[in-house]
Amino acid sequence: MTSSSPGDLAVDGPPPDPDGADDLGVVVRGVRRTFDLVVAVDRMDLRVPPGQVTALVGPNGSGKTTLMLMLAGLLAPDSGTITVAGADPVTRSSAARAAVGWMPDVLGQWETLTCREVLTTFADAYRIPAAQGRARAAELLDEVHLTELADSPARVLSRGQKQRLGLARALVHDPQVLLLDEPASGLDPRSRVDLRVLLRRLAAQGKAVLVSSHVLSELDDLADGAVFVSRGRTVDARTVAEMTLSTRRWQLVALDPDHLRTWLRDHGVAEVADPAAVRPDHVLVELPTPEAAAALLRDLVRDGVPMVSQAPASGALEQVYLGLESERR
Ligand SMILES: Nc1ncnc2c1ncn2[C@@H]1O[C@H](COP(=O)(O)OP(=O)(O)O)[C@@H](O)[C@H]1O
Ligand SMILES: [Mg+2]
Repeated sequence: MTSSSPGDLAVDGPPPDPDGADDLGVVVRGVRRTFDLVVAVDRMDLRVPPGQVTALVGPNGSGKTTLMLMLAGLLAPDSGTITVAGADPVTRSSAARAAVGWMPDVLGQWETLTCREVLTTFADAYRIPAAQGRARAAELLDEVHLTELADSPARVLSRGQKQRLGLARALVHDPQVLLLDEPASGLDPRSRVDLRVLLRRLAAQGKAVLVSSHVLSELDDLADGAVFVSRGRTVDARTVAEMTLSTRRWQLVALDPDHLRTWLRDHGVAEVADPAAVRPDHVLVELPTPEAAAALLRDLVRDGVPMVSQAPASGALEQVYLGLESERR
């Protein structure tokens, strides 16, 4: 850095990538996009590494979809630079498009085709030979549990089934980079688990996966890292491990809540009043460090308080999110 000329610093954002991982992932530097007077993406910097699931987290209107459309090459940035799997979606659009699988938040068109035809049509567009495309379609329909509906028109699918078809469509050409816009919305609990298992498997294969959501509980168990966006700007990037360790609010549950409360009072541990308390027998406390949490549980058990559980009070992502300054538009 010290030897850089001022010109090298003109575009900042994520630091240089020493191990070449950026050629397999996504890098966004200083990206901006406006629609007339609306600044949808003001200034975003982020990196989506291969082999991981990265969450793009922010309230409605914060610019998540606009960013993803730019990454998918469907919208050009006004300024800033983007590379997906090493290619700029504007100047090397066919290389970038071949590397990217895009799942929009609504499936939209194609609804007169059958599920199978949606997938074979896409395979054809990616110049996959017909026999191979048919085999790939069958494999993916099975993966997203739509085999029974393979020959029904896509328009008869429920919202969750359409989401699953959209996911299969994004995977047709086995892309290196996967961009999923609110993929879990409309999914039933079983399908959410399936989605999580599938995305973890794709990450383990070395794919770079970016998942947007405004529903934080969807992402806690799924993501390795998170990028927070607010009003068109990236405001924070952290790993989930860091977020979990910085958790301060813990929820304690004992078989006998009065016994627990008496013990806490006698030991000078203050109960935190929680306006959003779920149940009166859940006791909320604030602890400065993970070590303090471990010590508290040890002492409670040692003194015979019948503990059922001690867990972070809300998901790690939610705690960081609520701690950030963010506003809905
Ligand atoms: N095509 C468009 N024309 C005008 N304004 C748009 C368009 N697309 C998005 N916007 C505006 O840009 C902002 C960001 O939208 P979006 O990227 O959809 O946010 P998110 O996906 O985070 O909810 C919003 O204020 C939205 O109204
Ligand atoms: Mg959106």
